[in-house]
Amino acid sequence: MQLLDGKLLSENIKAELAAEVEALRGRGGKTPHLAAVLVGENPASQVYVSSKIKSCEQVGFKSSLIQRPASTSEQELLDVVRQLNEDPDVDGFIVQLPLPSHINEEKITLAIDHRKDVDGFHPVNFGRMAQGLPAFLPATPFGIVEMLRRYNIETAGKHCVVVGRSNIVGTPISILLSRKGYPGDCTVTLTHSRTQNLPAEVRRADIVVAAIGIPQFIKGDWIKEGTVVIDVGINRFPDTTKKSGYRLVGDVDFEAVAPKCSHITPVPGGVGLMTVTALLMNTLKACKKEIYP
Ligand code: GUN
Repeated sequence: MQLLDGKLLSENIKAELAAEVEALRGRGGKTPHLAAVLVGENPASQVYVSSKIKSCEQVGFKSSLIQRPASTSEQELLDVVRQLNEDPDVDGFIVQLPLPSHINEEKITLAIDHRKDVDGFHPVNFGRMAQGLPAFLPATPFGIVEMLRRYNIETAGKHCVVVGRSNIVGTPISILLSRKGYPGDCTVTLTHSRTQNLPAEVRRADIVVAAIGIPQFIKGDWIKEGTVVIDVGINRFPDTTKKSGYRLVGDVDFEAVAPKCSHITPVPGGVGLMTVTALLMNTLKACKKEIYP
């Protein structure tokens, strides 16, 4: 069993990004600039956003954090989005989800200029991705395909079972892995809460992507020998031995599943770090106008 080390990979990629930023600047180019909008005080969102900002510093990107209280109106947030759309110094930006329940997330996502949508959530980017056109790929699926690529994991003709059909992970990764080329050319089964006999579906997999958001949901006896397991889950699990009162666990029962795998991502230290790194890769692409010249 080999661990797919998201920490090591993301450090390597960040070193490459930092070198590119230096080279850009040396040619008199612009410093990539990512802005992040955080509304309210969701503790997990606060952790994710600070990690995104910190990662910008590590690679020499400029970053801006725009914080607004949970009481912010939808119109006020739309105004923030419009200002970022119009700011020529901002190459890309994200509005951290979830938003407070009085704000319509779809409306906010649609208001973001797709040329600055480094989260790849805008329907223009999603549609272009689905058609195999250049697009900003959503950060987690982008991080996963980059991980498969850099570990040279064979995908052509493999049976990939995706567990969870969210707009930001399950659905896009199922599209990306079924596309022509590498990593891709998989036969994909997209499973969800209404799937019948889920363990039997997962047992047929050569590659499993677990993105259901339920701690330790995928059990040891659901996995056949030699499977590649990608665990997207980041769940807080009560643990009285920790100062915080919790530890992070994935959607996979790691202890039981890992011995059967050819490769598996740990939690933490797997896909989560690749997600942040993929966002940086998208921001550099935005700065270089690679997707939308
Ligand atoms: N909430 C959970 N994941 C994400 C993400 O990748 N981007 C944003 N903006 N919000 C999220």
